[in-house]
Amino acid sequence: MIQNLLILGLCLIAFSAGSSAHTDDNDRMHPKVSFPQSSGKQYEDASYWKKNARDTLAKKLKEPIIETEAKNTVFFLGDGMSLPTVTAARIYKGQLEKLEYGEEASLFFESFPNTAISKTFCSDSQTADSACSATAYLTGVKANIYTIGVKPTVNLGNCEAQMNVTNQVESVLAWAQAAGKSTGIITTTRITHASPSGTYAHIAHRDWENDDMVRKSGQNPDTCDDIAEQLILRRPGINVNVILGGGRREFTPTSVIDPEEKIGGKRTDNKNLIEIWKVLKSGKKAQYVSTRAEFEKIDPKETDFVLGLFNYDHLSYHLDSTEDPSLPELTKKAIEILSRNPKGYFLFVEGGRIDHAHHDNMAQKALMETVMMDKAVETAANMTSENDTLILVTADHAHVFSISGYPKRGNPIMGTAGTSDKDNLPYTTLSYANGPGYKRPTSTGERYDISNDDTSHKDYKQPTGLPVYSETHGGDDVAIFSRGPYSHYLSGVVHQNYIPHLIGYASCTGSGLRSCSSK
Ligand SMILES: *[C@@H]1O[C@H](CO)[C@@H](O)[C@H](O)[C@H]1NC(C)=O
Ligand SMILES: *[C@@H]1O[C@H](CO)[C@@H](O)[C@H](O)[C@H]1NC(C)=O
Ligand SMILES: *[C@@H]1O[C@H](CO)[C@@H](O)[C@H](O)[C@H]1NC(C)=O
Ligand SMILES: [Zn+2]
Repeated sequence: MIQNLLILGLCLIAFSAGSSAHTDDNDRMHPKVSFPQSSGKQYEDASYWKKNARDTLAKKLKEPIIETEAKNTVFFLGDGMSLPTVTAARIYKGQLEKLEYGEEASLFFESFPNTAISKTFCSDSQTADSACSATAYLTGVKANIYTIGVKPTVNLGNCEAQMNVTNQVESVLAWAQAAGKSTGIITTTRITHASPSGTYAHIAHRDWENDDMVRKSGQNPDTCDDIAEQLILRRPGINVNVILGGGRREFTPTSVIDPEEKIGGKRTDNKNLIEIWKVLKSGKKAQYVSTRAEFEKIDPKETDFVLGLFNYDHLSYHLDSTEDPSLPELTKKAIEILSRNPKGYFLFVEGGRIDHAHHDNMAQKALMETVMMDKAVETAANMTSENDTLILVTADHAHVFSISGYPKRGNPIMGTAGTSDKDNLPYTTLSYANGPGYKRPTSTGERYDISNDDTSHKDYKQPTGLPVYSETHGGDDVAIFSRGPYSHYLSGVVHQNYIPHLIGYASCTGSGLRSCSSK
């Protein structure tokens, strides 16, 4: 009886397979490969993979559980650093370093012992933007899209609600200051952009980076503090020791001509917040810098406060210019300054332009920005001990970026994955579900032929399935990589807003659970 049923079952399977378009395929879901696959290359053999896995296990068995207080915390945020971004950046790095293939490379932060999956949806949005997301991973509550440092009761653009302290939520950076620690903020974007402002701002609209933007939203800038003002004049911004990034234009009036860009700033309230910062810091060991040369001259031993604004707008992509100090250089200097505090520090470092490159479908720039942030992570790890410093690396949200096809080992990650079995035209390994890289079909309706495209050019826009001006974020989960005190509790599948609660616990800051509450 069982045997008969089994035969009947097999017949049904054979029948349904036979009804597909590819009657000669055993597996119509996967492409046919030609045999032998004669690349002539000798890939790693079985003994290599066994040893590799045994070494991994041996390393894991020796990993200590660290349950001492996290004196320092370094929080790395790859803006839009989805998991496919991490994978592709690893291959890109391996191929830049001329490894045999590329896939065998590792980003530095992949060596961290602990990982978790982070759910990024916001209070009112299935997919996060950097503002509501920053509120979650820095203050511990999910908020509404485009709002920063305020509870989800604050609706987008409601300035009155934003200014009411009962609606504001404090960040881990503020908790660290309350515990007597030094604090720092570094980004490759404008320092008033959504992610970094999550450390210090309370704002009902992320676009309110200066007073003019507040006014243009129909709000009164006299009663509604913009983000740049909050950084320079309000707590916790006013007490931040190290502020390094871009966005001078948000701090200077239209009448002040920028030394580099040769145009005026964005402020219409006539406040020069850079000059105000200098006055507020007079008598202290404080320096304002705006060029690489000035930055390099900073003596960390003689500096308690630094404001470094290296560009009128965002810092340049690393592939476009290396004139501005790089993220690893900024990170190194910041840690040298902050680590002089015996009570420790909290440092936020953002690789902010991974996101911008993705929005433009410029995959190579997104990968290079990821590689640079990884170098900054390595720099921080080299300068600290895992016994007293919690380092975590995560992303605020994903992107609709994918790695597709079946390219051979070592195939250039910026190249093509093969040809479609449907239209016989080549397609790129890296592509996006949407964005400005969309290529219109020919007049006869065929797919655009990328054969003559230079897909490895730094400005190449990878193809997309849907034309939109700016590629969108993705709603998929992101990863959290961590090492140091209590990082073993950064595991499993968690909401993004769990992260600061864990940091507070490990570093004995904030008003939630603390590892050292008995002290
Ligand atoms: C702030 O919000 C609280 C709670 O909604 C409210 O009771 C209070 O009146 C508000 N304060 C001001 C100054 O509007
Ligand atoms: C970190 O330290 C290792 C070992 O000393 C060294 O090889 C590496 O170059 C350092 N990396 C950075 C980014 O400083
Ligand atoms: C961390 O502490 C452990 C136990 O005290 C010690 O064996 C180890 O060398 C320390 N590691 C570092 C990097 O200081
Ligand atoms: Zn974005």
